[in-house]
Amino acid sequence: MQINETYQKIKQDLEKYYSSKDNNRWRNKFHIEMPFGLVNDPNGLAYYNDEYYIFYQWNPFGCEHKTKHWGLVKTKDFVNFTMPEIILKPEDWFDKDGCYSGGAYVKDDILKLFYTGNVKGPNNERESYQCIVDYHKEGSFEKKGVIIEKQPEGYTAHFRDPMIFVENNTYYMVLGIQNKDLKGRVLIYKSEDIEKWELIGELETDMKDFGYMWECPNIFRVSEDKFAFMFSPQGLKAEELRYQNIYQSGYVIGDLDLNEVSLTNYSEFKEIDMGFDFYAPQVFKHNGRNIMIGWIGMPDKDNEYATSQYGWMLGLTMPRVLEYKDEVLYQKPLELIENLREKKIIDINNQIEENYVVKLGPKSVECKLDLDLSNIENLDIRFKFKDEYISLLYNKKDEVCILDRSNMELGGKGIRKFKLKAEDSMKLHMFIDNSVMEIYYQDGLETTTLMYFPKEEGLEIEIKNNININTLQVWNLRGIKYEK
Ligand code: FRU
Repeated sequence: MQINETYQKIKQDLEKYYSSKDNNRWRNKFHIEMPFGLVNDPNGLAYYNDEYYIFYQWNPFGCEHKTKHWGLVKTKDFVNFTMPEIILKPEDWFDKDGCYSGGAYVKDDILKLFYTGNVKGPNNERESYQCIVDYHKEGSFEKKGVIIEKQPEGYTAHFRDPMIFVENNTYYMVLGIQNKDLKGRVLIYKSEDIEKWELIGELETDMKDFGYMWECPNIFRVSEDKFAFMFSPQGLKAEELRYQNIYQSGYVIGDLDLNEVSLTNYSEFKEIDMGFDFYAPQVFKHNGRNIMIGWIGMPDKDNEYATSQYGWMLGLTMPRVLEYKDEVLYQKPLELIENLREKKIIDINNQIEENYVVKLGPKSVECKLDLDLSNIENLDIRFKFKDEYISLLYNKKDEVCILDRSNMELGGKGIRKFKLKAEDSMKLHMFIDNSVMEIYYQDGLETTTLMYFPKEEGLEIEIKNNININTLQVWNLRGIKYEK
């Protein structure tokens, strides 16, 4: 098929999909995912032309990590979205093997998109080109080509994922890279006009031996004098209470000196999400707030995602506002997400219960649960799907939370174990979709994102033991809509 016909067909397939009904039980109702192909990192996040622009890595041709395009959906309210569109295609000499991840910045009413062009040489050797695109309000765009040609001396071609930030009227770009000793690093470039870029150096930190590659870096101001440096390091060794996924995403907060190109006085690296399926988050600013969207998925774990048998795989988290408090970033669902609430189906206060069961049936709900911990040592909550279940255990004395997927037959299994502070109460804010669960713990101090693939429909949440439910509120959530 001719290239144009191929893309014409994708467009028709999308239209066909959204005008029919898909009864696949794992299709999520309120998470962004694609009808077909594989979705990975969120890209080019921006508030532009009175809408949220959400680009993402998309292979529309299959569930493999190849032929990466940039897809786009736009929304004003996180309920109504535009029909997915393909924006960047891997069709030029500088991006022929993939339009890889990057960020966006609005300048002079133009949405400037930055991405990495991935090129494979004749012997499969990698070349990376940083590229720029001008995207205009009415939807036209211009791929303007390469702004940074290959990597500087002393580094390998693992060089990607440009993100822009502005300080003192100067544009800065942070990029993930691997040095010749095979250690993860980031480089910082600067520009006066956002088009011509000059290397100012490698960001100096004490993290000299912290993984072999740092993907998807973000640098953003969190207070008058502090900056967060968020990135996705690969190659950290698993420990009992952290780094349990194959790759991590997290941040440090410290003092950024752009003259010295250094980050000092920073906090210990903290993973941003302790679940099984969260990676490559991107942060953008809107109205002075930092908003993050992550990829629900994990590289090199394709066999854990049971929907690939139906030709689609993975998606994006809901938007989370990051609030800097007590040296950490608290995560809060963006307020607009409340637009998804259809009907409150449970509202209880101060009720003592023994093995309380919340029968939910179809699984697109938001639950806010506040449990009294004053008289108990352990919490045991089960998300049950007939004979299968996911459990959430909390031990108050050890301050340890365990999320356990071992009792599910399909998809990834195992446990994730992490520290969580709780004294008198445990607050859980849960968004449960058909194969995705996002849980915020203790007002967003921790979160866990995971995928699950129950064999049977219907969900019951069981809160074991004798427990005082301070409050429980449950809403049915509506599905998001994609329109022209
Ligand atoms: C992270 C990542 C990025 C890269 C993109 C390619 O998941 O590996 O570093 O740009 O995915 O799809």
